[in-house]
Amino acid sequence: VDYPDLVVVGAGLFGLTVAQQAAELADARVEVIDIRDHIGGNAYSYMDEETGAEIHKYGAHLFHTSSRRVWEYVNRFTEFTDYVHRVWATHDGEVYPLPTNLGTINQFFRAHMTPAEAKALIAEQAGELAGQDPQNLNDKGISLIGRPLYEAFIKNYTAKQWQTDPAELPASIINRLPVRFNYDNRYFQDTWEGLPKDGYTKWMERMAADERIHVSLGVDFFDASQPYSKDALKAAGVPVVYTGPVDRYFDYALGDLKWRTVDFKEVRYDEGDHFGCPVMNFSDADVPYTRAIEFKNFNPERRDAQNPDKTVVWEEYSRFAERGDEPYYPVNTEADKALYARYEELAAGEDKVVFGGRLGTYKYYDMHQVIATALDAYEKRIAPMLAK
Ligand code: FAD
Ligand code: NA
Repeated sequence: VDYPDLVVVGAGLFGLTVAQQAAELADARVEVIDIRDHIGGNAYSYMDEETGAEIHKYGAHLFHTSSRRVWEYVNRFTEFTDYVHRVWATHDGEVYPLPTNLGTINQFFRAHMTPAEAKALIAEQAGELAGQDPQNLNDKGISLIGRPLYEAFIKNYTAKQWQTDPAELPASIINRLPVRFNYDNRYFQDTWEGLPKDGYTKWMERMAADERIHVSLGVDFFDASQPYSKDALKAAGVPVVYTGPVDRYFDYALGDLKWRTVDFKEVRYDEGDHFGCPVMNFSDADVPYTRAIEFKNFNPERRDAQNPDKTVVWEEYSRFAERGDEPYYPVNTEADKALYARYEELAAGEDKVVFGGRLGTYKYYDMHQVIATALDAYEKRIAPMLAK
């Protein structure tokens, strides 16, 4: 085999960023492999023929960043729409704005409080457990925002996310529950946000468009019968960037890192718009899913190209992941972090292999964070390996 200068395992945002930088800055020939049959990792999306919706196959993805470096970098590969993310929640037969803000509070208490009055009320309600050290997530939630708001908007939603009664969940799962004492319901507070104008997949394809980058899909790094396998590359001394699960790399030698996953249930409606917004949370226990995504509504600028009489919605059901499920959110208990620290030590001992991305480093990263860590990893660790 005529090996390239670098093999990247995983065609997600970490892998593509590294590949793009290696080709452009080091004139490297890069082979990117992915076990899936498409590029883009979890940011991949496809067009739904019937409705004209862009479906984000691995869950709704909103791009946002305050890093000028990342914003300038991504704008080389795509333009962004002026989409601004906002979320609503259904509770007890009413729809409220999120994140919890003065509009939510005044609607909930049937009041017209000023910011100072609302702040005082929440402080008083949060004082219910004053002087006690919260022993579980319920107590923690009450001590942060008071019982009424906690029980309405957090308790059942969290129970569905974890499939566990919050009284049984560790207080450490939440550190803060942001409450805004004004009517700002813009979800992200970053300098820049938006959605890729012609879709996520076009963006990712442009990152790999360099002639020096070759992408092979449907290829498993651990399949010894293909030329870019772990063992073959090690024997040939080819530098590798690995963005798959770190425990899998070491054949789960120290045990499995724990993840949560999400099952998506697709529902189609014979109407143009079902929720009137892209994301509707369901705060109560009687609706079994946590939230519903109506993809058409992420791209109102495409209205003319969308079907005015049909819409598609994905309901999200959250649960613990088993081997073979898509790992989405690290569970991240103290035990998980300790286990990852031991894998990290093994990873540091692997010659010519850089572990990166959310699976390779067992971290929840947003897209902008993955790109930032990839740009850094390229500079500090990969460029030196490629220096001829
Ligand atoms: P991935 O995209 O997971 O790429 C890793 C790739 O490695 C995969 O394509 C996988 O197939 C491949 N691979 C694994 N094992 C092998 C193997 N053995 N051989 C070959 N290939 C292999 N971020 C935001 O900024 N905004 C959001 O709104 C947002 N929403 C999200 C919603 C959900 C449900 C999830 C799970 C994540 C969300 N994210 C969001 C985070 C975003 O998905 C990640 O930041 C980003 O996709 C991570 O890129 P990555 O390259 O690290 O990993
Ligand atoms: Na290419």
